[in-house]
Amino acid sequence: MPFNRSNHSKFLNPPILHDKLRIVKIKEIKSETPTIKSFTFVDEKCTETSPGQYVMVWIPGIDEIPMSLLRELNKNLMIAVKSIGGASAALHELKKGDVLGIRGPYGHGFTSITGNIMIVGGGIGIAPLVPLTKNLANPPTKITFILGATTHEELLFLDKIRMELSKNDGRIIVATEDGSFGFKGLATDPIEQLLKKQKFDMIFTCGPEKMMKKMFQLAEQYKTPIQASLERIMRCSIGLCGSCMIGKFRVCKDGPVFSSEQLREVKNEFGTFKRDFSGIKVKI
Ligand SMILES: Cc1cc2nc3c(=O)[nH]c(=O)nc-3n(C[C@H](O)[C@H](O)[C@H](O)COP(=O)(O)OP(=O)(O)OC[C@H]3O[C@@H](n4cnc5c(N)ncnc54)[C@H](O)[C@@H]3O)c2cc1C
Ligand code: FES
Repeated sequence: MPFNRSNHSKFLNPPILHDKLRIVKIKEIKSETPTIKSFTFVDEKCTETSPGQYVMVWIPGIDEIPMSLLRELNKNLMIAVKSIGGASAALHELKKGDVLGIRGPYGHGFTSITGNIMIVGGGIGIAPLVPLTKNLANPPTKITFILGATTHEELLFLDKIRMELSKNDGRIIVATEDGSFGFKGLATDPIEQLLKKQKFDMIFTCGPEKMMKKMFQLAEQYKTPIQASLERIMRCSIGLCGSCMIGKFRVCKDGPVFSSEQLREVKNEFGTFKRDFSGIKVKI
């Protein structure tokens, strides 16, 4: 656009686009589990996000990675980060007052519905399910939340979920792989019994892809619609680079939350293959 007298204010005060990197200060850091820390900050562009949407988080001098967003009180935003590799471990080293770069919010989040709802979360995948539960936990919706982790100590946001469910008489089932809390096994273990006994209007899930694949298969078997939040390597997050492809879909833009219809179209790749940093398909 050429600069002229009538449009000069657009050049002097351009609107802040959600794609533009904003620098935010970390207000609070909390250890949620031995491997997961939460980081609180304020960013005006992210106050209207829906559960399941994500932001790109730039750790200065290291890398930029996608993170699910939780909305807290007083315009505060939170990300919960599991220390896995380069970028997430570097994030864990940051201190209160350090800065991060934020782009977004991006992607299609979960579509809320009312009725008899099942929510299934595993490990760090529980993070985006907390704001979803907050949105859904109102009459007449009834929620059964199944959450799983490797150990009792690694159970994420159990108290937050309990608090949300207590508002609406929801039910919570906990599974730990070592049996240190709840019943011993995987989050998916008790689900077939539940699906046999009652009809659910929707299943929402986020967690390890093998867990979500199993949930998708059970949902198909019991003719229940499902929404699953997928994870792939993301670079641009705006649909250009192709690093996040699954079948014909770009997880960054078409997802990260996918419906039953979409998952059917990628059922040969979902839970079986992902792309590595060079774009080559590798086994999950
Ligand atoms: C939409 C979306 C939302 C996300 N939300 C969150 C979130 O809320 N919290 C969070 O902690 N992470 C989240 N992630 C994952 C996050 O973006 C990074 O992929 C993760 O932190 C690892 O990045 P890294 O640079 O630390 O590790 P890398 O250096 O990329 O990986 C180190 C090693 O760990 C392996 N690895 C990478 N990711 C995983 C994984 N998920 N599980 C097991 N092994 C892995 C790699 O194959 C590699 O061998 C999300 C991803 C997506 C796509
Ligand atoms: S991250 Fe580039 S197309 Fe999805």
